[in-house]
Amino acid sequence: MSETAKIIIENKTFEFPVVVGTENEKAIDTSKLRDTTGYVTYDDGYGNTASCESSITFIDGETGILRYRGYDIQDLAVQSNFIESAYLVIYGELPTVQQLQNFRHLILRNAAIHQGMFSFFEAFPNNSHPMAILSAMLNSLGCYYPEMATNNRQRDLEQLDNAATILLSKVRTLAAMSYRMKHGLPFIHPKPELPYCSNFLHMMFSEPYVDYKFNPVIDRALNLILLLHADHEQNCSTSTVRMVASGGANLFASASAGVCALWGPAHGGANMAVIHMLEEIHKAGDDGSSFVAAAKSGDKTKRLMGFGHRVYKNYDPRAKILKKTCAEVLNTLGVSDPLLDIALKLEEIATHDEYFLARKLYPNVDFYSGIIMRAIGIPVDMFTVMFAIGRMPGWIGHWRELATSKSPIHRPRQIYIGSPRREYVPIDKR
Ligand code: SDX
Repeated sequence: MSETAKIIIENKTFEFPVVVGTENEKAIDTSKLRDTTGYVTYDDGYGNTASCESSITFIDGETGILRYRGYDIQDLAVQSNFIESAYLVIYGELPTVQQLQNFRHLILRNAAIHQGMFSFFEAFPNNSHPMAILSAMLNSLGCYYPEMATNNRQRDLEQLDNAATILLSKVRTLAAMSYRMKHGLPFIHPKPELPYCSNFLHMMFSEPYVDYKFNPVIDRALNLILLLHADHEQNCSTSTVRMVASGGANLFASASAGVCALWGPAHGGANMAVIHMLEEIHKAGDDGSSFVAAAKSGDKTKRLMGFGHRVYKNYDPRAKILKKTCAEVLNTLGVSDPLLDIALKLEEIATHDEYFLARKLYPNVDFYSGIIMRAIGIPVDMFTVMFAIGRMPGWIGHWRELATSKSPIHRPRQIYIGSPRREYVPIDKR
């Protein structure tokens, strides 16, 4: 006998089914609530609302667990790499040798961009933010591959493998091109023989006749950063992708919307904000303690960036892995970054401070990722773009999951708190 939940409204008892997930998370299925009671639920920010059932990622925020398709993030971080994990997130299983080879081949083959897109770059003002460029360019892919952007779900699904590898491959090329354009550097074309991350670094940092020097430590670190960002349940940007996809929009348009949602400082923009915060502390000659004091004021503009999370009320497992990688990469590169010392000091102070402990505020994925990207030479204004490259498999996987489900167009209700009915007043009487 499946569990139910009883709700008493105006002395009447209503019963609703309880949905139980694989890891025993429980939800009250309120899909018939309005029809049976006339009431809707109200949950500003959806912190208590499951918008869908999904098989892609599982997070236990209380104990700091993160799994892609059932595999622990710690296992994938040590044994897998970004492209293999991307396949897992999108298709649900770790690839065989042949499947991975085909996937890699499609990605390598799709690295270059259509000649027509070069003129887009010239049209952007030089100081354009790379996230604005990226969302525009990703959406324009639908113009160059109209057969994959028909907005006919069945036809777009038939083209998914191609559209997915085009997105995964070109997001890297477009990101590197926005960097080169901003710095007035000639575009560097992808090299088919280079693996995913090194090809990106080649397109970012090579010179016309001097190739970027491949460094296995950096390649590994970048693989790890992207892998750790690959998916994260119904975060703000992934929910946006599902929202846009639910109306039948194609994968390119949905991914472009995901980029826009990710840009905000409370979400993907936090990795840039962390570095700006650490630089500010460094410049002030502070050891972080007065900054922590200000962060406790409750003033949202003084928050400890890279700390806290809507779901993790424990240490973000990704931050744990990145903290370790941070030290390894800096040591191997012989780089000593004062910002890492400040970050470690901030963590030390905050994780022993009652204000943060009481609110279960711990370092999240953004707290250390920026220090590694800085050491690799990626400019701060590209950090959120790196997050978008990493999150692309998740957005694709959730688009595919929604497109193959019976989920209707997403259309939440609201509670109207505006003006009651009133008569129109002509302008000469106002
Ligand atoms: C990402 O959802 C995802 O999965 C996102 C992500 C992903 O992979 O997609 O994990 C990526 O977005 C990580 C989060 C990156 N953002 C930041 O690091 C920005 C700094 N963090 C905060 O703005 C905040 O912690 C949020 C937005 C992340 C979470 O906010 P919540 O859970 O809604 O917390 P809240 O705003 O309700 O605050 C609860 C309390 C408040 O104090 P009181 O009113 O109870 O006194 O905690 C305080 C807040 O003032 N608080 C902080 C704080 N975060 C919350 N105080 C100081 N510094 C902080 N960072």
